[in-house]
Amino acid sequence: MGKRIVITGASRGIGRACAEEFAKNGDSVMICYNKNEAAADEVLEKCRSFGAVCEKCEVDVTDEISVRRMISLAEYKLGGIDVLVNNAGISENGLFSDFTVEQYNRIFNTNLLGQMLCAREALKVMKENGGRIINVSSMWGICGASCEVLYSASKAAVIGFTKALAKETALSGVTVNCIAPGVIDTDMNRRYGKETMEALKEQTPLGRIGLPEDIAKAAVFLAGDGARFITGEVLNVSGGFVI
Ligand code: NAI
Repeated sequence: MGKRIVITGASRGIGRACAEEFAKNGDSVMICYNKNEAAADEVLEKCRSFGAVCEKCEVDVTDEISVRRMISLAEYKLGGIDVLVNNAGISENGLFSDFTVEQYNRIFNTNLLGQMLCAREALKVMKENGGRIINVSSMWGICGASCEVLYSASKAAVIGFTKALAKETALSGVTVNCIAPGVIDTDMNRRYGKETMEALKEQTPLGRIGLPEDIAKAAVFLAGDGARFITGEVLNVSGGFVI
């Protein structure tokens, strides 16, 4: 039987690729989107074309009530939750000397608090039968990026969160892992010019920018039987950028 998967930020980029990869795998997917319902509908249609049971849900991961609603809807529509993919996130560039408290709140509320709220609510449903939580961090959370200090710190916090939660939920049969993507071709990186992308490609030993599907395949692995004895792990999917 397929698994029941909840994916945040699933209307585009890495989240969308995860939705499609799980749907191809025969899993049921709750496609959670923030604002763009039309894009979520497109993903829904694509996932259903693989024969998968899929639903959509609007969510703001920084809002506790909205997250509770998303988890209740997933439980009701999918009949339970086996896997949570905590993918929603934002990045902002700028010098550390210029950062504001508003910016800190925006980044940490989305990238860390958002994942914590989704995990807390999903765990209430998972605890009966175990489950998998897959948090999306970043290679910058491992090695840090200049002009992305707040983003890097929030993604490093995701790694700490993953490891600590893995220890706390192990006895309930819930594994918690995270993926640290390298540079992936999504809207998040559109602000970089062609030259910067070319330079990032050159710094990647495998010689290309990552595709959203590269991360989706790692998520499917972490959700599958092959990863059943893996918890608290950081899976670096960066084409060798960080070794
Ligand atoms: P993206 O910008 O295309 O997607 C981000 C998604 O998060 C969007 O669907 C957006 O609607 C959603 N989101 C943002 N704020 C939200 C909120 N408050 N509530 C609900 N959803 C919200 O970017 P991408 O690349 O697909 O990013 C996905 C994840 O991968 C993010 O956590 C990002 O930090 C991480 N990542 C991306 C890398 C890249 O090179 N693209 C590298 C490393 C990590």
